[in-house]
Amino acid sequence: MQKNIVLVGFMGAGKTAVGKALAGRLNRHFSDLDDEIESSEKRLISAIFQESGEAAFREIEKKCVKYISKRKNLVIACGGGVVLDKENMENLQRNGIMIYLKASPEVIYERTKDYQHRPLLQVADAKKQITELLQVREPLYAQADFTVDTSEKTIIQVVEEILRILKR
Ligand code: S3P
Repeated sequence: MQKNIVLVGFMGAGKTAVGKALAGRLNRHFSDLDDEIESSEKRLISAIFQESGEAAFREIEKKCVKYISKRKNLVIACGGGVVLDKENMENLQRNGIMIYLKASPEVIYERTKDYQHRPLLQVADAKKQITELLQVREPLYAQADFTVDTSEKTIIQVVEEILRILKR
């Protein structure tokens, strides 16, 4: 198999943890888009948002998507907002099988509430923010080739489910 396996989904859906474990099982390289962005910029995502704003972050993200989509045989974990840009979707899907890791707003809140590194969730009412962002993004995530609900599952269970999908 040459195509990349591209994990999309909301913050806290499990893309990074699942992606690492999946890459291990498939003996592939793992690439985390947020890490690529931070190392190419030499600053944290929170600093990019704070110093340059979200629009600038999206431009950098787009460049990294373009670059990473040209590679093959990877498992790629994308940032939650990657689906907002049509060209990102085209680039990632051209050479990739896209899997949407879905989770309920309640589970997302529980998984993200104790972390401060996600600028979009550093708001007074994070629950409301999650619900609102999900409403906008859900139809975009649904454009993925497959959906796996991670809400009530362990990382291993999600990986097993993806492996079953890939074997079909
Ligand atoms: C974002 C998700 C983050 C990161 C940035 C913006 C989003 O990645 O790219 O904070 O718009 O949903 P994770 O989904 O890996 O947390």
